Amino acid sequence: MSVVALVPAAGRGERLGYGMPKALVPVDGVPLLVRAVRGLLDSGCVQHVVIAAPPSDVDVVRDIVKTVTAPSAPAGGAVHVVAGGAERSDSVRLALTHALREMPDATIVLVHDAARAFTPPAVVKAVVDAVAAGHPAVIPVLPLADTVKQVDDGGVVVATPDRASLRIVQTPQGFDAAVLLRAHRSGLHATDDAGLVERLGVPVVTVPGHQDAMKITTKFDLAVAEAILTGTGG
Ligand code: C5P
Repeated sequence: MSVVALVPAAGRGERLGYGMPKALVPVDGVPLLVRAVRGLLDSGCVQHVVIAAPPSDVDVVRDIVKTVTAPSAPAGGAVHVVAGGAERSDSVRLALTHALREMPDATIVLVHDAARAFTPPAVVKAVVDAVAAGHPAVIPVLPLADTVKQVDDGGVVVATPDRASLRIVQTPQGFDAAVLLRAHRSGLHATDDAGLVERLGVPVVTVPGHQDAMKITTKFDLAVAEAILTGTGG
């Protein structure tokens, strides 16, 4: 039995306006992808990592992640890099196919965005522990600070869902390997992997996430991450 983490990192990251794939953007000198992979391995419970890289940058990414293999790399494990696809879900599917072919002993699969580069290793461990305890799908979540409104096409509010029952979803999301494979083969569509599994009728349970696991999407997010790392974040 082993745990493999898939890291879809094939997005162009245009909203960040850096002129390079978002996963390769450095924060305090270290690319987001390297930080994300280190966080996974530092949890102590991930044996293999499969990164889906932008197809034009597979070799670049291979070179960059070589810097991760010590001291965080697990004994007997490895960091693999494959070419990603057109959409995030395509990148996940390609990485999953590689993982299950190369690591047939993998029974737990995590899916983790490179953009959530500061996810604490304790969150990774909590997700793995919950899957290992028998939950086929596990997601880290946070409560909402803001009220959320549902609006119609014209921007008019049609509903105010009860905030107490809403959660913000983070990654890594953890799955029983066979369940995730079934979800990706189902032809269903959803904005995250847990959404796919949910559509199969499989229960998805939650564990506490962490504010550091925020997704870096905009220049503002990057500035916040830099400020936290360099100790100027207050
Ligand atoms: O663009 P967004 O931040 O929503 O992407 C989420 C994650 O999915 C990022 O880590 C991005 O690199 C990845 N992705 C991918 N393949 C794509 C598009 C996005 O691996 N075709």
